[in-house]
Parts: sequence; structure tokens; C-alpha cells
Amino acid sequence: MTINAIPRLPVVSMRGRMAPASPIRKLMPFATAAKARGVHIHHLNIGQPDFATPAPIRDEIRGFDHQTIAYAPSQGLPEAVRAWGSYYARACGVAVPDEQLLVTAGGSEAIIFAIMAVADPGDEILVFDPSYTNYIGFAGMAGVSARAVMLRPDDGYALPSAETIAAAVTDRTRAILFCNPNNPTGAVYSEADLRLLLDVCAQRGLFLIVDEVYRELVFDGRPQTSLLSIPGAMERAIVVDSVSKRFNACGARIGCLTSANEEVMGAALRFAQARLAAPTVEQLALVPLLSDPLPYTAPLAGAYERRRDAALAALAALPDVTGSRPQGAFYSILTLPVADGEDFARWMLEHFALDGETVMVAPLEGFYVTPGHGRSEVRLAFVLDEERIARAAHVLGAGLEAYKAAAARTGRTAQTTPASLQVVS
Ligand SMILES: Cc1ncc(COP(=O)(O)O)c(C=O)c1O
Repeated sequence: MTINAIPRLPVVSMRGRMAPASPIRKLMPFATAAKARGVHIHHLNIGQPDFATPAPIRDEIRGFDHQTIAYAPSQGLPEAVRAWGSYYARACGVAVPDEQLLVTAGGSEAIIFAIMAVADPGDEILVFDPSYTNYIGFAGMAGVSARAVMLRPDDGYALPSAETIAAAVTDRTRAILFCNPNNPTGAVYSEADLRLLLDVCAQRGLFLIVDEVYRELVFDGRPQTSLLSIPGAMERAIVVDSVSKRFNACGARIGCLTSANEEVMGAALRFAQARLAAPTVEQLALVPLLSDPLPYTAPLAGAYERRRDAALAALAALPDVTGSRPQGAFYSILTLPVADGEDFARWMLEHFALDGETVMVAPLEGFYVTPGHGRSEVRLAFVLDEERIARAAHVLGAGLEAYKAAAARTGRTAQTTPASLQVVS
């Protein structure tokens, strides 16, 4: 073999090059720089609640006294698997046998496993526009395309008819994937909605993957229906779950995948074997709360409902800003009087502060599969207490005024607002 004298550079995969940067995180370098300048940032960009992680979780982590942090079994530690079973019995009133549960490294890994268990490279999954942005990223990692059915803010992001959804299904579609309660729209879908989707799936031979990581966060006394509680759904039903939001344990990285479909669970377990195991200490740490969740989760919806109301009341005072009224989860989509929500979000970090404070929001364009949508929209997470959320809305309003004034002064469009338009008070 002759070694080529001219060194050739290795090339990154197309998949790697095409992977979208998360709109929730990609502006973080600007936030870090703002913090270094001493600016306080109200983080409304990310679903990281400010509540303390419950004491039993922290106590378990502190009390971990094994000599070795050993690998867990790929399905999960037996006590963690049983704890998820107890959780579903208490939270959803359903008995889920151990073999239908797989403990994952966060809901994120459960979503990746679910997509990879049902779809091959070149296949499609059907989502709704807008969707949780990482569905698009995860599908891309699996070589799967996301195809979207558009939802509309003026009817509260309600599902369209079964015919409209079925019309978007192609020969390559393998599953419908959506989130209930919904990130980013805040919509909560009813049992009738789930049955409608199950009917479409039954007609077209699809799986229904429902991401229920915000299960408990439903407002205004609405019922929340888990896909797990719908009789007859199980063979095509896959539920994705996480402790991140309901137990304020985002960094624990513990989630769960559930399905009564043996082939799905078999595939997921083989994927799980390849990644060896989910984190041992955190699986153990979550056992007490998963085994007895209601004392902690029961007041949660009320707490977020108060935050939603405070956020909406404060935002109502901002001219030309419209916001969705979430029925659940903890996000609202705002339509802003700007041409480019990402430019505005970045500008707020780079060039604006009111009394040393600014606001970080997530531009919504990356939550849409369909190009050209969401440019004037941002997602706001109401993960701060009422007082701070009201203050953040005030700072946001001041930022919008300053941004518009700066753009008007130069006659430029919002997309081209230059650094010289700094407004710091
Ligand atoms: C809808 C939805 N699914 C999944 C996740 C990921 O959850 P985890 O932190 O468990 O990976 C998130 C995180 O924000 C989410 O909003």
C-alpha cells in the first residue's frame, strides 16, 4: 500500500452538517457574554423551572454510599423500573407491567429510541407545526424526515380534521409524534383528539408517539388524558416521559419509554444495550418521588397557572404584542412587532439592558418544519415567579421599544440592526 503524500482532510457527515442548532440554546454564547458584562438575564428561553429540586431527590444523591457507581441494567435498575410502574398507577390510573417500561437518559433519549424503533433512514414521521424543536433534530440524527401539518394560533392550535392529517401521510410515514400538554403552543389535547389520531394511525398503519413530559401541568380545571389510559391504543402507542419538568430535576437526565408493543420494546432495549445504561445514582434518587408523586405534583399546575396569569397580564400591557393563552405546560408563543425574532432575541442579549437587566427568549422559527413560518414569533417559558415574570415582561417591552426606535433611526429593517444601535440604560 502506498501512502498518499498529500494529506487529505476528513469530511464531516452531511447529517452532521445539516443538524439544526437548537433555537433554545444557540444564543447562549451571547447570554454568557452579557453576564460577563454584569447584565442580569431573565431566562425565559428554556424550560428550566426555578423551583428547588425536591429534598428527597437531593437526599438520595447525598446519601448514595456504594463503593462503586456501577452500571445499571440497560432496561433500568429494577427498583427504578418498579418506581415508574408505581408512578403510572398513581398519575394515570393504569397498571404498566415492568416489561413495558424502559428507563432512559432523559425524555430526549426516549424520543430518539422511539423514532429509531419505528422509522428507518428515508422514512418520515408526522409532526405538527410548530412542534418541540428537537423532534426535528432527533429525526435528522436518525436519517428520518419530519413532515408537518400546520396548526393555527387563532383556534388555539387545535388539531385539524382526520382527513387533513391523513392527507399528509405518505407511503414513507411511520408515526405521528406530538406533545401533550404541548411545548411550544401550550395546547392540551383531549381524549377525543387522541382517539382521532389513533383512528388516523389505525387507517394508515402508523404508530402514535406521545410525549407527555408536561403531563401534570394542565390549567383551568381541564382534564389531562394520557395515551396510556386509552383502552386498545397500546399496540400502536408509545409514550415518552421525563422527570425533568414535574420534579424540577432537568439535570438528573432520567426519562422513560413505555409501550405495550413487544417489538418496539425489544428494539428500544437493544438500543439501550448499545448505550449500556441510564445514570445509576439519578435512577435511585428518583425512586421515592416516582413511587409517591402526588404530594409533590398536585400543587404544580396551580403554581404554573398563577405564573401564566401573571405573564399574560404583564404582556397585555405591551403594545403590538400578542400571546397565546396556554392551557397547559409552561410556554406561550408571542408574536412580536419585529421582522426577525432571532435577530431581536440576539439584540436583547448583545445590545440592550434596562437597569442592568435583559430578557432571553427562544426564537420560534426553528420550531417549524415548514420554511418561512414563525419569523416574528418567540417562545416564552414562564419558569420564574410572578414578580420576576412581570418584571421580565416589562424589560421585554422596553427592549422592543428600543429595538424599534433603533431600527427607525437608521431606516434599517430589524434583520440588519447593527451593533452601533446599542441601547443601554
Ligand atoms: C416536549 C419535550 N419533550 C422532551 C424534552 C426533553 O426532556 P429531558 O430533559 O427529559 O430530556 C423536553 C425538554 O424541554 C420537552 O419540552
